[in-house]
Amino acid sequence: MTQPLTVVIFGASGDLTARKLIPALFNVFLKGRLPAEAKIVGVSRTGFTDDAFRETIRPKVQDALIGAGETWSAEKWTEFAKRLHYVSADVTQDGGMQPVHDWLTADEGEGGGRRLYYASVSPELYPQIATQLGKLGMNQEIGGFRRLIIEKPFGHDGKTATELNRVLHEHFRENQIYRIDHYLGKETVQNILIFRFANTLFEPLWNNQYIDHVQITVAEKVTVGKRGGYYDGSGVLRDMFQSHLLQVMTMVAMESPSRFTADALRNEKMKVLDSVNVQAFQEACQSIAVGQYRGYHQEPGVPASSVTPTYAAVKLNIDNRRWQNVPFYLRSGKGLRSRYSEVMIQFRCPPHLMFPLPPGETLRCNHLRIILQPNEGIHINFQTKVPDVDGTRLQPRDLAFDYRNSYGQAALPEAYERLLLDAIQGDAALFMRADEIERAWEIMDPLIEASESGDRLKPSEYEIGSAGPTCADELLARDGHVWEPLPK
Ligand code: BG6
Repeated sequence: MTQPLTVVIFGASGDLTARKLIPALFNVFLKGRLPAEAKIVGVSRTGFTDDAFRETIRPKVQDALIGAGETWSAEKWTEFAKRLHYVSADVTQDGGMQPVHDWLTADEGEGGGRRLYYASVSPELYPQIATQLGKLGMNQEIGGFRRLIIEKPFGHDGKTATELNRVLHEHFRENQIYRIDHYLGKETVQNILIFRFANTLFEPLWNNQYIDHVQITVAEKVTVGKRGGYYDGSGVLRDMFQSHLLQVMTMVAMESPSRFTADALRNEKMKVLDSVNVQAFQEACQSIAVGQYRGYHQEPGVPASSVTPTYAAVKLNIDNRRWQNVPFYLRSGKGLRSRYSEVMIQFRCPPHLMFPLPPGETLRCNHLRIILQPNEGIHINFQTKVPDVDGTRLQPRDLAFDYRNSYGQAALPEAYERLLLDAIQGDAALFMRADEIERAWEIMDPLIEASESGDRLKPSEYEIGSAGPTCADELLARDGHVWEPLPK
């Protein structure tokens, strides 16, 4: 007999549950990939019945799916909603977890079952949830696995992250903990590994002999909006760099793992993080530039004196044999010209060019753009001969792969679909291990400290709709480079 399988969502009345988690589970159900025996139990303090919970969440899920351009079927929802249940409990209090324990044991019966706990709650509550689960023995693998999913932020700095890991490890083994970075759930980010390691063409060039530098951009058009309360205590260096940008960088820079398994992969990612030359902050616009968009102080929840950066550009060096002298430039910000994320690999120029260039022109040497979003794809840029003109004129052109052209409009599912299924199946490859998190903080902490000191690294103001502060351009100009322009 198949063991019962329950996804328990703590924080069921929260935004993430309605906007991302239930829509993702509904979508995998529509695709026939949600195991037939899977039940979903929402847990929060509000006193809903199962039916009231289903009814309350339904319009929100519908809005989220339609908003994301996905299909909505009322009939299918009714079928799916039968698997949704609800337990009202205050799980952060001593004894508060008991109703969840009782519901699960009654539902699973004597043989126990498999459980995936999702802490979709404010991060300060992760330790309490893990502790309460531990106290009632709900971490014990009776009749199947017990896994705990948590989301960033994992701590506020290295020290608090280590403490969080310590508390989690009191109750769960490392291989029961699934730390989500939703960027790893993106098809385009996973495809970096396929592109590099399932092809012969690119990997021989993927090193300091042929690559001049790498740019990783995660640009957002949206401003902080209503999230000022959270964001101001975090800023772009915590919100985007410590997590998403460093994770994408590991995918670009790592050596080939011997197997496509969680630990083999994470060992290689960890080696990259370990090789990053952690630098104390020296001078603004040199290895880091920070900015704040004009009008940030008017956002609700943001104090008038805030020096929190909403933009940053950081230069990192990976001190290993493959990447010696190949700078990685990372940038991310809100309120920028466009929503655009990419990895740009700039190759070195040919050692000798026999074609004369018109005066003042330089050759834009080969580059490769892995476009993470939107218009997801891969573009390889190379020189061509302009046909039928006097003499020999060169012009760069793109060889392009586009996901939607190749795989259809619905080719790119929400990251949570893949991540939830992986967690159910016990594949932790796309989740972060404790040591990765702690090392990522070690890299970011000195820069965050400088930016919070109030005087050493002050954010420069930039206009909403621009490409960020000029200090970020100076940072690259020092090395003779320019940022890849953000599309309009
Ligand atoms: C989140 C950050 O982790 O990622 C947000 O907290 C940010 O501030 C978001 O907007 C970006 O994700 P995506 O998938 O929209 O690029």
